[in-house]
Amino acid sequence: MPRLTVKGLGDFEVTPGKRLVKAMVEDAGTDQLHACGGVARCTTCRVRFVEGEPSQMTQAERDVLAAKGVTEAGIRLSCQIACDHDMSVELISRLEGSGRKDQGGQVADAITPSPVWVEKS
Ligand code: FES
Repeated sequence: MPRLTVKGLGDFEVTPGKRLVKAMVEDAGTDQLHACGGVARCTTCRVRFVEGEPSQMTQAERDVLAAKGVTEAGIRLSCQIACDHDMSVELISRLEGSGRKDQGGQVADAITPSPVWVEKS
């Protein structure tokens, strides 16, 4: 089972292949935002990788990060990542303090849109 470490919160065992955004909410119990429901539109599901950042990303992730001008190293979209190895992240986009009414729409089990994998730029 892959281990998800959330900085300051602890370590959590995650079902292999589970979407990172779902693991952040369901396994780690965080108030991680996911406003668009995990479809690579909003970037509110972003996390900062401490360790284990995947070398690949979906084309959708690359496109939306570029469109929103997100260029900081280690910032990734948790809705576009599968937990297929140990990873350590920092929670940086939370419901608390956001002014939003909820964390976001329901997130499907499968990465959406259907992933086209590209090397991280
Ligand atoms: S981009 Fe909206 S939840 Fe990931």
